[in-house]
Amino acid sequence: MTELIWEGKYKDGKKVAPVRIPLPFQTIETINESAQDRLRTLDMFAQGKPTEWRNRLIWGDKKYVLPSLLPEFAGKVNLIYIDPPFDTGADFSFNATIPDNPDTEENESTEFIKEPSIIEQKAYRDTWGRGLDSYLQWFYETVVLLRDLLAGDGTIYIHLDWRLSHYGKAIIDEVFGYDNFMCQIIWKRSSIRKARSDKWLSVDDIILVAIKTDEHTFNQIYLPYSEEYKKRFKYKDERGYYYWIDIGTYSEERLEKLKKEGRVRFPEKPGAHPRFKHYLHEGKGVQPDNVWTDIVQVNSQATEDTRYPTQKPEALLERIMKVSSRENDLVLDCFSGSGTTAAVAEKNNRRWITCDLGRFAIHTTRKRLLQIPNVKPFVVQNLGKYERQVWQASEFLPSSVILSPDEVGAKNLTGSDKSDSSVAPLLQSNMALKEKAYRNFILELYHAEPVKGFVWLHGAKDKRMVHVGAVDTPVSCFPQCSTLKVFKNNTK
Ligand SMILES: C[S@@+](CC[C@H](N)C(=O)[O-])C[C@H]1O[C@@H](n2cnc3c(N)ncnc32)[C@H](O)[C@@H]1O
Repeated sequence: MTELIWEGKYKDGKKVAPVRIPLPFQTIETINESAQDRLRTLDMFAQGKPTEWRNRLIWGDKKYVLPSLLPEFAGKVNLIYIDPPFDTGADFSFNATIPDNPDTEENESTEFIKEPSIIEQKAYRDTWGRGLDSYLQWFYETVVLLRDLLAGDGTIYIHLDWRLSHYGKAIIDEVFGYDNFMCQIIWKRSSIRKARSDKWLSVDDIILVAIKTDEHTFNQIYLPYSEEYKKRFKYKDERGYYYWIDIGTYSEERLEKLKKEGRVRFPEKPGAHPRFKHYLHEGKGVQPDNVWTDIVQVNSQATEDTRYPTQKPEALLERIMKVSSRENDLVLDCFSGSGTTAAVAEKNNRRWITCDLGRFAIHTTRKRLLQIPNVKPFVVQNLGKYERQVWQASEFLPSSVILSPDEVGAKNLTGSDKSDSSVAPLLQSNMALKEKAYRNFILELYHAEPVKGFVWLHGAKDKRMVHVGAVDTPVSCFPQCSTLKVFKNNTK
């Protein structure tokens, strides 16, 4: 099959795959849950029973969030909509405005530049560090993980613009299969006429649609007729507005029924079809096609405006959700922004999971959801502040060799001291194993190769040596200086 190649797609003859290490989620906040419900949930959790579903707003990089969702949600997400950053090379800073306070007389609106945070800078380097090549690798890895999360009846909508949509199509074909590409939707996002003398005005975004199997959900919807079309219904009787239309192919039964209703007119010309009264109120509406010109961009006057610069209209998401999902289905968006997908899912009784690495995006989404009357309880989670030590121990040490804290405590309580000959070697080997597994994990995350024979140097990447600091250790001069010393001694 024809394939798009970018620098960094292959390493040692193999495609570079996304990180697939699941990290534990930490719930920072549960919103809108009564104390009674919380206790009941805790109780069920303690008894190992399945707890009630909670929608999830996750603060984190999709690179780690998506693989962390896989153990629970692989093949279970019914609808995915993503609107990844596609403003080539744009970083995470933008101008934002804190709106005027309606309770005070003075004009208090304030303009500020939202500078990118450290994690956003890191993500920016991942995404655009090597220009289009790194973006395509970043995009490819996202789509691979999303495919694994998508259910058999699921559909994925990928929102791009003219700069990236053609590359995006080639990647989607590669990941989902050429035959599973459903269509492209052209959304005429803007009708602003900015005069250009040197090129065509670009007013559309492209939404690429792919499915996993032929079992995908597709509920037909109907839009209201245009004023132009309604003008055809120029006659009126006691039933309503109508015009005469050819019956076309008809059954005797249908003709009899129409005749009885007094709706048929037989033509004088021999052989011509009879005509019947076609009423406006009997039509279901227009089936939308793939060119959407009736949904306008969010403007500053819109009630849904959150002042998030790349916010998409709720009407866009509502159309997608109504067609490609059912009530109670699970909807995922890993680039939440202002939270449009979650807000529309909430209002349409779909379950949702959304994530974003920007603090401002999480804040905006949370606030927006709270403004929805009767919003169902949801959790705000992250991957960051997990009890790192516990996580490191449980993740990086096979349980067969762990000496549990209880066992160590029991030995100490029964009079053994720390030099107890049975405990000390075990503890030491526990630690060594744990550190090794942890270091390998970090090297893998960082795409570095492990190296042997050094104490302070653990890996190599792009001709640079890598030192992995211990979990939770503050960066201080000690490991840095020791690392430097080893490096100097070995490169003389
Ligand atoms: C175009 S905006 C999404 C706008 C959204 N559809 C809406 O209606 O508000 C893209 C979002 O992706 C987020 N983002 C960029 N890189 C990310 C990453 N690696 N992981 C998670 N979110 C990311 C940005 O912070 C930004 O909020």
